[in-house]
Amino acid sequence: MSLKGRHLVDLSDFETQELRKILDTAHDLKQKQKKGNPHEILKGKSLAMIFMKSSTRTRVSFEVGMTQLGGHALYLQPSGTQLGRGETIGDTAQVLSRYCDVIMARVYAHSEVAGLAKYATVPVINGLSDFLHPCQIMADMLTIEEHKGGLEGLKITYVGDSNNVSNSIMQGCTMMGMDVTIGSPKGYTPIEEIMTRADRLSKKYGTTLEVVNTPAEAVKNADVIYTDTFFSMGQEKSKEKESALMQFQVNKGLVGKAKSDVIVMHCLPAHRDEELTSEVMDGPHSVVFDQAENRLHAQKAILALIV
Ligand code: CP
Ligand code: NVA
Repeated sequence: MSLKGRHLVDLSDFETQELRKILDTAHDLKQKQKKGNPHEILKGKSLAMIFMKSSTRTRVSFEVGMTQLGGHALYLQPSGTQLGRGETIGDTAQVLSRYCDVIMARVYAHSEVAGLAKYATVPVINGLSDFLHPCQIMADMLTIEEHKGGLEGLKITYVGDSNNVSNSIMQGCTMMGMDVTIGSPKGYTPIEEIMTRADRLSKKYGTTLEVVNTPAEAVKNADVIYTDTFFSMGQEKSKEKESALMQFQVNKGLVGKAKSDVIVMHCLPAHRDEELTSEVMDGPHSVVFDQAENRLHAQKAILALIV
């Protein structure tokens, strides 16, 4: 099975075995890097990275990942390129494809990264859109496997605002045989488009997918509790949303209602003492920095397989 030439924009474009191949390659590349074994399999290859929004982890892990694979990465922002002066996504995609071997983009509207994939003649990776964050969830599943020894049959509960991260959890974790619960206040539950798509996946893979409006009910029997910011990049802040989501804060009391060996995850950046307390983030259940590290290994696997 080859993933060469494939875009990674939406995890549901893949089959379970293909996601498994990415995870296995990531475990392998992580071992190679830890042992200092050479793995410069992308020597002479270039990655164009388009960032319409801020980033620490995605930018650094992709750039360092390309270096470790023997290749090179270019950091492109609208302000320093003609994208900022209105050159279209389609034209940009065609031009970058003439120079680079792969494109990664972090965008606002999902249609922008889908548009890049449509016009590019090299693989395109979604480095976060308003709708999905697939690379994050690949790194997260790598982390869960490391801590739990597998994925199938585990229960992951995402608590908080339904967003790009929870949408990708609903896809990726379902496809890998996990039961997914979303615990969100009314008004902040998953949008219909992702519900319909994830429901289809959960029927196909024989898993459960549920949305509940009480945090305690959501985390019952959870092996993994996951949360993210109240306000994603580009979203307007409101007191109303903040107070609704504060009821879903991941704190010691809530963690105590899950399984005793539950792991707590956050894609970061965290807003300490808002969506999760510092006590939990720095406490024994937290694996948030393992997750951050695994962005590097998961993305190296994606690059190694699709380029
Ligand atoms: N988790 C994540 O994507 O982090 P950055 O916004 O720092 O890239
Ligand atoms: N949901 C967050 C994720 C950041 C990595 C956002 O889109 O801002």
